Amino acid sequence: MRAFFLGLLAATTFVAADHGKADADLAWFQSEIDLLAKLQARLTGSPTHNILIAHIESSLKAIGFFVQSDTISFSYNDPPVVQPILAVHGQLQSIQLAGAIPYSGTNLSTVTGKLVNVMTTNSSAATDWAPAKGAIAIANLTNTALNFNTLFGTWSTLPVPFPAAIGVPAVSAVGGTNLAAAADAGVRGVVYVWDGISTELADAQYIPFQESNPAIPGVFVATSKAAEQLVAAAASGSTGTLSLPEVRIPNVHSRTLYVVVPGTDKSLRNETAILSTHTDGVNALEENGHIALLHYAKQLKAHPPRRTTILLFVTGHMHYGQLVPAPQRATNVWLSAHPELWNGTVGKTAVFGSCVEHLGGVKFVENLSKNTYTITDALEPEWLFASSSSLASLTQELWSGVEPNITRVLNPNTGQIPQSGEGRPLLVAGIPEVSLVTSPPWLLKIYGKDFDERKLINTEALARQVLSFERIWDAADQMGASEFK
Ligand SMILES: *[C@@H]1O[C@H](CO)[C@@H](O)[C@H](O)[C@H]1NC(C)=O
Ligand SMILES: *[C@@H]1O[C@H](CO)[C@@H](O)[C@H](O)[C@H]1NC(C)=O
Ligand SMILES: *[C@@H]1O[C@H](CO)[C@@H](O)[C@H](O)[C@H]1NC(C)=O
Ligand SMILES: *[C@@H]1O[C@H](CO)[C@@H](O)[C@H](O)[C@H]1NC(C)=O
Ligand SMILES: *[C@@H]1O[C@H](CO)[C@@H](O)[C@H](O)[C@H]1NC(C)=O
Ligand SMILES: *[C@@H]1O[C@H](CO)[C@@H](O)[C@H](O)[C@H]1NC(C)=O
Ligand SMILES: *[C@@H]1O[C@H](CO)[C@@H](O)[C@H](O)[C@H]1NC(C)=O
Repeated sequence: MRAFFLGLLAATTFVAADHGKADADLAWFQSEIDLLAKLQARLTGSPTHNILIAHIESSLKAIGFFVQSDTISFSYNDPPVVQPILAVHGQLQSIQLAGAIPYSGTNLSTVTGKLVNVMTTNSSAATDWAPAKGAIAIANLTNTALNFNTLFGTWSTLPVPFPAAIGVPAVSAVGGTNLAAAADAGVRGVVYVWDGISTELADAQYIPFQESNPAIPGVFVATSKAAEQLVAAAASGSTGTLSLPEVRIPNVHSRTLYVVVPGTDKSLRNETAILSTHTDGVNALEENGHIALLHYAKQLKAHPPRRTTILLFVTGHMHYGQLVPAPQRATNVWLSAHPELWNGTVGKTAVFGSCVEHLGGVKFVENLSKNTYTITDALEPEWLFASSSSLASLTQELWSGVEPNITRVLNPNTGQIPQSGEGRPLLVAGIPEVSLVTSPPWLLKIYGKDFDERKLINTEALARQVLSFERIWDAADQMGASEFK
């Protein structure tokens, strides 16, 4: 009886301590979210991005780590403080724009020309730009609803199918815009008339961000009024002027940070694990992955890993087109600079990796007939990838994420689109990986100063995802390299 009583007491004490730690963790997670919400957009190389990098660096140093960094240099587009303008001459009207293509208009940010309608009704045909040579093209773009159940490859039948999804603007813009082809055809600027999307969702989307420096300006319109005005103006042979009042600043620097945490097991001294994220972004979701890495850093300091573990905070994701040739991404800059830490032929071999992106995002609902896009209490379903069937099993067993009882593990080697995000360079480098890159339609929206971005993140869901990653990372550190393949 006494033994039982003591045992129970010990268990109770342990649970209480655990709750205390969980509360402290939640408060810390919230403080990191608060910082991101305060900084808002952190475009690559921008002052707010630099603040976050300095915060991550000082946090790692405070934990007791030696922080290394690599510097990139590029020409930076300071986004316009006044809105881009599209004016139709004749009966002078200003057309309401939804946004502009990042870094577009690199050669000439103000262009004037005849407005020429090149919209196509044939969804499988490429746009014929020729009629708009020397002019401003009015092209069209459709935000097409996605079916995640067929879009992604899976390792086995999903425990519960993905719910119906709307179009993800980042996906439609990558497939549906082509400023390089338009410039090659001598077009001076492009206005994309966007359908299948609510005005609110289309507003201030920073897409497609993967391009290098499109020579000509590209903008989006998403209201039916603006679309009607443009079609009518083109039909009547009107001329227009498109202005992107942004400032180009050469030789801007940004830093990738990394920490090498030495492993304790001599038999694993030729191996590494790479845990990564990126630091630039446009809102409190894109990107908040540093929260998971900083949280784990504290644990790694207290309990060093068996296998040398690299914590990698990459810069340049939001503008990787200028940094690497397609289909590489920002992480490739670091991989190319440090073969000794992963490649195997000239040093250590990375046997496991994880890229953490977009934690705890809430779900919005769109109603196209009402033209609304509104926040809900629900959470956005996860895009969680595992590169091998053994890692898929491990993930299925240890993950408890936004929907604690539903874990959908995706197979990045199959499926209709390549793995999104900065986990893909690990996959392509042959590093077995488990990566999260949930991508709600609002992922790349830049929110205004009056919007409280804390609303975008569910802290408890974020915490579950961070702790799920930590269970996987701890388990992987106890496993042999051959078990990940
Ligand atoms: C715009 O393009 C889509 C294909 O993406 C097509 O289905 C639609 O009919 C086009 N709209 C117009 C107005 O041409
Ligand atoms: C649509 O475009 C595709 C590709 O160019 C072409 O093969 C097809 O014939 C076109 N369909 C129509 C109805 O014009
Ligand atoms: C833009 O400028 C670059 C560099 O001067 C040049 O190589 C390129 O041809 C220009 N592109 C267009 C479409 O004018
Ligand atoms: C580590 O690599 C070195 C150099 O390639 C090799 O000599 C050594 O045997 C390796 N150690 C282990 C434990 O595999
Ligand atoms: C590793 O580096 C060597 C030498 O640069 C190169 O030949 C090899 O392809 C690299 N391996 C991988 C997996 O990238
Ligand atoms: C969208 O709004 C319309 C009009 O209020 C309504 O009839 C319809 O059910 C709504 N659709 C969805 C998916 O909620
Ligand atoms: C998951 O748990 C929630 C809350 O307990 C419950 O409402 C939901 O039905 C469960 N879903 C599945 C698929 O078990």
